[in-house]
Amino acid sequence: MIIQKLLTLTIFGTLCFIFLWTFWSENPKNEKQLVLDVSFPTSDIQQPEPETVKSTTEILKNKSTNDDKEIKNEPEKNPPSISNKLSTVYDINGNPKEYINSRYYANYLNILRQQHHQMLSILLDKADLALKNNSVYSVTLKPQLAPSNDPHDYMSLARYFWPNPEKQNGLPYIGRDGYVNPEIETVKDYSLLRKLFKDIENLGFAYYFTRNDSYVEKAVYRIQEWFVNPETRMNPNLYYASFIKGQELGRKTGVLDMHPIYRMLQSIPIMRSSRKWNLLTERKLKDWISTYYQWLETNSLGRGEKASKNNHGTYYDVQAIYLLSYMDREEEARKYSREALINRVNKGILATGQQPHETRRPTSWFYSIFNLQALFLLAERSQYFGFDGWNYVGPKGQSIKKAVDYLLPFALSNGKGWPFLNIKEFEVNSYVRLLELAYVIWPDDNYLEALIILRPKAKLEQALEYRNADWEDNYLCVWSLMTNKQLWTCVE
Ligand SMILES: *[C@@H]1O[C@H](CO)[C@@H](O)[C@H](O)[C@H]1NC(C)=O
Ligand SMILES: *[C@@H]1O[C@H](CO)[C@@H](O)[C@H](O)[C@H]1NC(C)=O
Ligand SMILES: *[C@@H]1O[C@H](CO)[C@@H](O)[C@H](O)[C@H]1NC(C)=O
Repeated sequence: MIIQKLLTLTIFGTLCFIFLWTFWSENPKNEKQLVLDVSFPTSDIQQPEPETVKSTTEILKNKSTNDDKEIKNEPEKNPPSISNKLSTVYDINGNPKEYINSRYYANYLNILRQQHHQMLSILLDKADLALKNNSVYSVTLKPQLAPSNDPHDYMSLARYFWPNPEKQNGLPYIGRDGYVNPEIETVKDYSLLRKLFKDIENLGFAYYFTRNDSYVEKAVYRIQEWFVNPETRMNPNLYYASFIKGQELGRKTGVLDMHPIYRMLQSIPIMRSSRKWNLLTERKLKDWISTYYQWLETNSLGRGEKASKNNHGTYYDVQAIYLLSYMDREEEARKYSREALINRVNKGILATGQQPHETRRPTSWFYSIFNLQALFLLAERSQYFGFDGWNYVGPKGQSIKKAVDYLLPFALSNGKGWPFLNIKEFEVNSYVRLLELAYVIWPDDNYLEALIILRPKAKLEQALEYRNADWEDNYLCVWSLMTNKQLWTCVE
């Protein structure tokens, strides 16, 4: 299956390369052809728009530039709708045949090629960092043990909990939703776990594009270290995730810590074709995953998280689907993905598109986008398993598209008129990523128009590393959504 996919991809890649090579190397010869082509009367030629690129660069030159001012300076343009970019020829029977006109197509190829090269270089840089990193990734490194005193127990501190000022020792900590206690950084399990999943993902994807086995060797090493090796392994449970100091156990919300596991699980099948892939290690990993899943299903923390109405529940579902798939329980994954999608859309989105369980949080903008990301992951999985969750409409008219549309005007207006408490900024980078995917799914010209306005702001946020936004375009993710569903990097 995988080999077949890779083969198809390689053939496709080779064809693309030959095509590009022919196209570019014969450029002078083709000039006439191009001119002839675009002079068909029905074609509506628009030159690429260098001014957009220039103003983005201008913004980035001066980091203290005001976003709003720059965005207003963006030239007003019609959305680059595909419909007026078509040319027509007539076939031998005199029937019209439409095609994307030549200058527009040439522009597209040029961008595609640039995006591909940029993506590859960013990906390989990350994979090389992961490859060269020889420090130990292990829950056993933390200086403070969980209340179990077992160094192999994972622990993370509750994000929004602070010392109680009315208690001498501050214990137990009390909640202030939306205000992150920087003390969470003192227990590294959480950030190490995320790093582990991202490293393995990058290594797997780098192998996919380069066939270089060193990446796989390193990924296997990391899997061994975290899940298998008796000295460094993590126990397959989350009893102490999102732990509030002064209490005995962690909380159900800590189950969210494990959700990026999908990054690792989706890159493992890609690596199986390498001679450095290790079947014994994978068998041990599967044992770990099975035990962990059983813990999730039977423990009150796991069951509580599954029953959550907000983003925690949605991400639980995403996690469960990937885990079931990895354990080869495909039929259960299929059933689960459909039921979860319907449940989350029905209960998590209103007829207006508002996500009420997120808008009640003090960081309502962030959580509305965060849950929408999980809904995208869920919709993608449901579609993968044969149910069109993207277009599912609930009994009151709720849908994922409505949730996208609900946020759009506020993204464009920097939150003006947002009717909920929001103690943080109206960052758009994550939303813009979703909007690009939304355009792939529902080719709505409003989305393209909005992207023209929002992209410079998203790029500025990336440049300033807001929320650790990565400096990269959405190329791989868009491509994955349209093709193999396997290189799904863009959604948190
Ligand atoms: C950058 O912004 C600062 C403050 O707005 C301004 O004083 C400075 O002239 C700007 N520099 C450039 C190169 O535009
Ligand atoms: C390796 O990864 C660890 C854990 O994220 C990090 O603290 C360390 O700085 C990295 N080392 C290098 C050389 O990149
Ligand atoms: C594989 O990648 C590593 C790291 O970039 C590099 O040092 C090595 O030469 C590569 N091997 C091959 C066969 O290309």
